[in-house]
Amino acid sequence: MKVNGIEYRTIWMEGRSVFMIDQNRLPFEFVIFRSDDYRTTCQAIKDMTTRGAGAIGAAAGFAMAQAFLMAPAKNTEEFIQQAKTDIQHTRPTARNLFYAVELVFEAGLKSPKSAFDMAQQVAAKDISDSRAIGHFGNELISEKCNILTHCNAGWLAFVDYGTALSPIYTAHQAGKKVFVWADETRPRGQGARLTAWELNNAGIPHQIVPDTAGAWLMAQGKMDIIITGADRIAANGDTANKIGTFEKAIMAQYFGIPFYIAAPTSTFDLNCKTGSDIVIEQRSDEEVLFQSGTDETGVLRKIRVASPGSTAINPAFDVTPANLITGIITEKGILKPGEIPSLF
Ligand code: MRU
Repeated sequence: MKVNGIEYRTIWMEGRSVFMIDQNRLPFEFVIFRSDDYRTTCQAIKDMTTRGAGAIGAAAGFAMAQAFLMAPAKNTEEFIQQAKTDIQHTRPTARNLFYAVELVFEAGLKSPKSAFDMAQQVAAKDISDSRAIGHFGNELISEKCNILTHCNAGWLAFVDYGTALSPIYTAHQAGKKVFVWADETRPRGQGARLTAWELNNAGIPHQIVPDTAGAWLMAQGKMDIIITGADRIAANGDTANKIGTFEKAIMAQYFGIPFYIAAPTSTFDLNCKTGSDIVIEQRSDEEVLFQSGTDETGVLRKIRVASPGSTAINPAFDVTPANLITGIITEKGILKPGEIPSLF
């Protein structure tokens, strides 16, 4: 994706260093964060300097490769095992993180170079899967189409292209008249901050929708299709995605609007039989009680937006049951939730 005329990936690795677009500073500043140590990369996953299933999968793979490259000559095995555990404890829900760590760990048992090569392969596959999802998902988008998306499953959430937004980019490039409704996605505002920034950057017409306005918008007949991403998909098709996705799926069924999930097969977890097996991350209530943004003079500030003395809950994801999902757009094609076993 081009930013200010320069081609960027969301995250990449050169030598022992990992570089990533700092998503905590978007949309106010475009800054590249550099990590020279697997522990710093872990911290960047935890504090969401990089976020989104595919991007944290790539970050976790790169962190595992960094651990192999920086392992001391003494107690190497202990160091690597500790690094693997540290990476696996950064964030619990996105399947891609665990998928990438396993692949790079196995490769690294041969040599540090094999770990590095495998981490690069995981990132490259993320890009080709995202492109293929764009190609298949484009078939669902009519010549003039209003699309709602939730959170950010665009190129910032992956290494490039994205999942939910990839079909939109493909359709836009094909000359279709697409319009995107971007859910703001409280509490962290990935829709208002990141999806809107991406769409602005790509020149795609869009508007930000308050999270509470979905049903109103659907009732106006101004939405043709909903496409969201996924963080983990169970064997029966139940899908964990950003908090608030579930309620959009319920509303979509009420209004008869097709509801699609877009995700690569690296997001599927057949060890989870149903959605109730998926671990849902609980984040700090600070993210609900405080908000950050620039004031009228352009200075970035964090302010309290809730009554002092109150606490809050902050589940980061919810699970949409398979029976509310019209179809899943993967790099291998579009399937019904019940067809998942045929993919593997
Ligand atoms: O908490 P995040 O921002 O890492 O959440 C991930 C997401 O962006 C969404 O759930 C997304 O729709 C799926 S990940 C591509």
